[in-house]
Amino acid sequence: MKTVTLAVAAVGLLATSTLALEPLTIKGSKFFHSDGTQYYMKGIAYQRSPLDPLIDKKQCQMDAKLMKELGANAIRVYHVDSSADHTDCMKAFEDIGVYAFIDLDDFPTYIEQDGPPHWNDTQLTAYTKTLDNFAGFSNLGGVFVGNEIITRSNGSFAAPYIKAAVRDVKAYMEEKKFARKIPTGYSAADIAELRPNLQNYLACGDDMSVNVDFFGLNAYEWCGEETDYHISGYDQLNKNATDYPVPIFFSETGCNVPTPRTFKDQFAIFGPEMQDVWSGAIIYEWIQEDNKYGLIDYGSADPKTAIGGDTWARGGTPTPLPDFTVLRDVWSSVSPTGVKLDKYTSTNGPISCPDSTSGIWNVNPTSALPTLGQTAQAAEASGTPADRAAATTNSGAATTTSSQNAAGTNEAMVRLSGGLVAAVIAAAALL
Ligand SMILES: *[C@@H]1O[C@H](CO)[C@@H](O)[C@H](O)[C@H]1NC(C)=O
Ligand SMILES: *[C@@H]1O[C@H](CO)[C@@H](O)[C@H](O)[C@H]1NC(C)=O
Ligand SMILES: *[C@@H]1O[C@H](CO)[C@@H](O)[C@H](O)[C@H]1NC(C)=O
Repeated sequence: MKTVTLAVAAVGLLATSTLALEPLTIKGSKFFHSDGTQYYMKGIAYQRSPLDPLIDKKQCQMDAKLMKELGANAIRVYHVDSSADHTDCMKAFEDIGVYAFIDLDDFPTYIEQDGPPHWNDTQLTAYTKTLDNFAGFSNLGGVFVGNEIITRSNGSFAAPYIKAAVRDVKAYMEEKKFARKIPTGYSAADIAELRPNLQNYLACGDDMSVNVDFFGLNAYEWCGEETDYHISGYDQLNKNATDYPVPIFFSETGCNVPTPRTFKDQFAIFGPEMQDVWSGAIIYEWIQEDNKYGLIDYGSADPKTAIGGDTWARGGTPTPLPDFTVLRDVWSSVSPTGVKLDKYTSTNGPISCPDSTSGIWNVNPTSALPTLGQTAQAAEASGTPADRAAATTNSGAATTTSSQNAAGTNEAMVRLSGGLVAAVIAAAALL
């Protein structure tokens, strides 16, 4: 484990003293504001390009102004430069009551499902640099140790490595005596075969030094007018989250088939069906690009400066698209009741760790977590012959719900945090 430089920590402390938005707290399965009201996340995935979106003050101010009109109170950012100064942008969002949820990994350091899975000091050091850079901002809502690390039904071997990352990030905050323990969670791909095992595994038992503080699900199950709370499967997601001991929310949602989007799922999430169990949703995504999930448009790219044939401008004056107006109207018409902190006693006790199921959930609930520097054994990661056979059958027969719906196109964007964007950056570096 590496030590943090004092300079970085000092920048964070300075930032705290100028910010007014109080940090969120977590009790049981809910987020709370400092005044004791419950926080329901109305978030926007905010990653305008592969590059850090939180370093351009003027851009952040323009985007924040529109996000205020939209009624957002959170952004999710997948990639930041851990050596950059984020004070101005964090302030622009803080001024409109927006909390930032930041992914700690950067392109070369995210935990991989294949390869085989590993978790090491290089990765942890990159994670803690991001953490140090943002920890001083009181509107840092939380951090993700990964986004969609597991993307296939046979990827459960990587789960202990995700939990090891949670453990080491939390140990770092403990060791460095952080004034505030930053909520640390994970954002999962929606893989039907792994539900609810992954969700439960990351929060099972009663050892909060290794468990996530929140769980995010990227789900694109609710598509169009024809569906509803039951047809979409949200009722089952809700059922399986009812006893969850920590906050759970949609860390990406917003199926865009058909368009324009109706965002009807927001009525369920923030309404009587789900408001007691879920803490809100992050809509995918702010900027319009080829995948057509955008809420705003910056116009077309200048071909002279566009990277890799990109046709979308990655900054400028944001102009609302039709989906923006729909979402604004939907969000302004929902008002989840919530519970007051002092009236709330969590009854969700520890949940048990899922049993290992050959070919589906290949994680022994009693095994120790991987140590820092550990790599899954090739034999372990490829499973027993029976596991491999089952895994092959699974991936052939049962497609994940998300790939049935939006995520065919979305997957590339989700991998904004992965290979695609790494390739774009590599291309940019060559120019
Ligand atoms: C950790 O893994 C990364 C790949 O994810 C690799 O580039 C790096 O060299 C490894 N670091 C150590 C200390 O083994
Ligand atoms: C809910 O949990 C059960 C097992 O407890 C699982 O079989 C089912 O697939 C889960 N449903 C969803 C929608 O995740
Ligand atoms: C999982 O399935 C994919 C094919 O869908 C295969 O390439 C990969 O090797 C499998 N991984 C494991 C750990 O069995």
